[in-house]
Amino acid sequence: MKYPKLTVFLGLVVLLVAWVLISGMEGDRPRAVLNPVSATPAAGAVLVIGGTRATGLEVVRLLRARGDDVVVLVRPSSDAGEVEALGARIVRGDALNPGDLAAALKADPAGGQFRAIVSTLGGRSLDGPRPDFEGNRNAVDAARLAGVRRFVLVTVIGAGESRDAAPAIARYVLRNVIPEKSKAEDYLKTSGLDYTIIRPGGLLDKEPQGRAYLTEDTRAMSWIRRSDLAALTVQALDDPRAIGKVYHAFDPDRTRFWSIPAN
Ligand SMILES: NC(=O)c1ccc[n+]([C@@H]2O[C@H](COP(=O)([O-])OP(=O)(O)OC[C@H]3O[C@@H](n4cnc5c(N)ncnc54)[C@H](OP(=O)(O)O)[C@@H]3O)[C@@H](O)[C@H]2O)c1
Repeated sequence: MKYPKLTVFLGLVVLLVAWVLISGMEGDRPRAVLNPVSATPAAGAVLVIGGTRATGLEVVRLLRARGDDVVVLVRPSSDAGEVEALGARIVRGDALNPGDLAAALKADPAGGQFRAIVSTLGGRSLDGPRPDFEGNRNAVDAARLAGVRRFVLVTVIGAGESRDAAPAIARYVLRNVIPEKSKAEDYLKTSGLDYTIIRPGGLLDKEPQGRAYLTEDTRAMSWIRRSDLAALTVQALDDPRAIGKVYHAFDPDRTRFWSIPAN
């Protein structure tokens, strides 16, 4: 062979392109479940864990916009500015410290019982210490001790029995994260709490479109805007039919890798 290195290189490029294309192939269109988000807040505060930024901050924004009491667990080193600007109360603490979560559940602004916990705990580092299992396990334990029954947990498509729904490339990149999310799901499912688990695929920072929905089809995979995911999370929080359910957050416009808009 005249150019063996070039041939191997081109072969690898072809394989990579094929992998990305296959990863982005479109599956079935699942059916929607649940109704649109309620405009009226329920009684009792909501503790948001992971509410300082991204999806969690969008959840705080939606809850505050309709007048819910919201408390956000904020790490001592983290910026609480956006949370406070939305009128949510903050309680300083780290989800990896069980005592901080117990203290957070005593911080209900109304002095009464929290009605729910929403956890969007995650992290940017793929290798370093992450709270995906331990933080959520601590939150579940604290909820049980405090008598808070409702718990909505955001994990990831690929967790639990949805392994094959995640594109191969995502399974590889998140190989240290997905098992921890699966453990957190299992822990919550067996906790006795009124749980809902919501699995998104890849997340995008764009304005909400309102076309995404929750489905019980655990083969469903799409990318989704964080703002849309947050709306679906609040929707599930409000709806008693969501108790004991695992959903995939599905955006019918973002099912292919190349359908993600540039703007
Ligand atoms: N990124 C993706 O494409 C993607 C795809 C699928 C699923 N997900 C999952 O979807 C959820 C939302 O992701 P996201 O990208 O919107 O949010 P994110 O940027 O991962 O935000 C994570 C949140 O968790 C908080 N946090 C991390 N460790 C903590 C700790 N020990 N104690 C208290 N708070 C802690 C962070 O607070 P600080 O401000 O203190 O860091 C932040 O508010 C996460 O569960 C994520 O794993 C993400």
